[in-house]
Amino acid sequence: MPCRHWVLAPLVALGALFSTVFAQEPDTRPHSNHSTFVNSDGAIAFAFAIPDDNPNQFWFTLRVHRSHAWGAVGLGSEDMPGALYLMVYDNRDQSNTTFSPRVAYGYYEPEYYRDFEYELLEGTGIYDDHMVVMGKCLRNCFTWPAKGTEGGRINVNSGREKGIYGLGPLEGFTSNRLDDSLKFHVQYGSFYMDMSRAHGATRAPVLTDDSRSEGAILHQKYVRKADIMSTMHAVAMILAIVLLMPLGMVMLRLGSMVKMHAINQTIALVFVLIGFGVGIATSYRYQRSQEFTSYHQIIGFFVVFMLIGQFIMGVLNHRHYRRTHLLSIYGKIHPWLGRVVILLGIMNGFFGFTFALNRRYGIILGALIIAMCLATLITMIGRHCLEARRHRNNARLRHHPPVGSPGEQRGAWPQAPYGPPGYSNGYGFPNNGPQPAPPRGVVFPQRFDTPSQSIGLRDVASNVRRIQPPQSPSQEPGQDRPQMARRGSSQQAPEAPRELL
Ligand SMILES: *[C@@H]1O[C@H](CO)[C@@H](O)[C@H](O)[C@H]1NC(C)=O
Ligand SMILES: *[C@@H]1O[C@H](CO)[C@@H](O)[C@H](O)[C@H]1NC(C)=O
Repeated sequence: MPCRHWVLAPLVALGALFSTVFAQEPDTRPHSNHSTFVNSDGAIAFAFAIPDDNPNQFWFTLRVHRSHAWGAVGLGSEDMPGALYLMVYDNRDQSNTTFSPRVAYGYYEPEYYRDFEYELLEGTGIYDDHMVVMGKCLRNCFTWPAKGTEGGRINVNSGREKGIYGLGPLEGFTSNRLDDSLKFHVQYGSFYMDMSRAHGATRAPVLTDDSRSEGAILHQKYVRKADIMSTMHAVAMILAIVLLMPLGMVMLRLGSMVKMHAINQTIALVFVLIGFGVGIATSYRYQRSQEFTSYHQIIGFFVVFMLIGQFIMGVLNHRHYRRTHLLSIYGKIHPWLGRVVILLGIMNGFFGFTFALNRRYGIILGALIIAMCLATLITMIGRHCLEARRHRNNARLRHHPPVGSPGEQRGAWPQAPYGPPGYSNGYGFPNNGPQPAPPRGVVFPQRFDTPSQSIGLRDVASNVRRIQPPQSPSQEPGQDRPQMARRGSSQQAPEAPRELL
């Protein structure tokens, strides 16, 4: 069966490869009494030795290239849970290094482990491009709480003791705090170390550029494992709250596109909910977020809750409006709550970048928001100028009507962009019934849309000050005629201006 050979041949070759790899491991050459692991790109090196005079202690040397903000070796486990981490990063003024012993019991940022007693030795410091820690563990060196994991101890007699390593991103991170928050690693891997040969040392091992793996072998290496979940969270939330939701607001205010508004805000809400779920999932990865007590998280919960409320209110108001042609209480709360919540959500974006130790991206977000505000401002000013010009033209036309055209028609104001700003007019329904009070200072042009030749500029100006819409108390919400019709009739009947005067 030749076919079988084809299958088996690669397996045999693989097996041979494996056996040669492992055959290299028991080093028979005369060696110093320590074991050294250096990862494949030389960014992290770790050496381990047990002193001749006290087998309950160990010397450790950790050397990490400063293209990484932090570097760490985890002992006693080939996986994150249950390992004891020896970690190094620059101290605050970058004059020396900070050494931080940590433990982790899951796939999340390790927490500071204060029971690991150690002293730092001469040789610790920043040397050119490397952070170096030389230390000696004094107590609680080989065991720590396992908390149900497979780790919790170093087997110093093992020829193949498990270890892992991790390297942080290049980032302006410096700290004196031993429990400071870290960013996700950009590279990690696992190795095996022969601890049995590292007994009987008489001094702490020294690591240099020339150090190579000795009595240790790289097992697996993973590169570029940034925190995809936290990135997804940021992208979904910014897309929804910074871009789509304000766009939906503009649709209603400038374009009166109610249906588009509804579709747009629903899509945005879906993005928010996705971002919310991913955000919660990634929160379990970091010490600072596991308890859900930070500003960013609390405000985030509130904003998401309010946005769901906004969605419900929008739907309820729409149904109410379709039935009665009236703006419901929800319709009055909805636009204002929307503005507040979106503002809060954008602010929370900034908090989020700080929380994720990504202030740089926060600045980019800031630039984006400022650009958007400018664009909106320009649009609104442009629209305002257009209106003002139309207003002037109309006023001029009233003074000098071209011969033969009826003044009423010329003086009529275009309907679409006017009316109570925002919601109700957008339906294209008449604004009947008790109207919402107009925001202060807003003039409804249809109040003086019934010019007669006798109205002078002065009169118009005096009308402008009287912006109270003429309420017709006799009209009950359900029974009155659409205002379109009223407007039409008032254009034919020039009583209205007299009423205003
Ligand atoms: C860094 O700190 C260690 C331990 O405290 C000390 O022994 C060493 O001299 C310091 N290095 C420098 C360059 O100050
Ligand atoms: C290594 O340890 C052995 C005893 O285990 C000792 O004889 C030897 O001198 C040590 N070598 C070094 C370089 O410390």
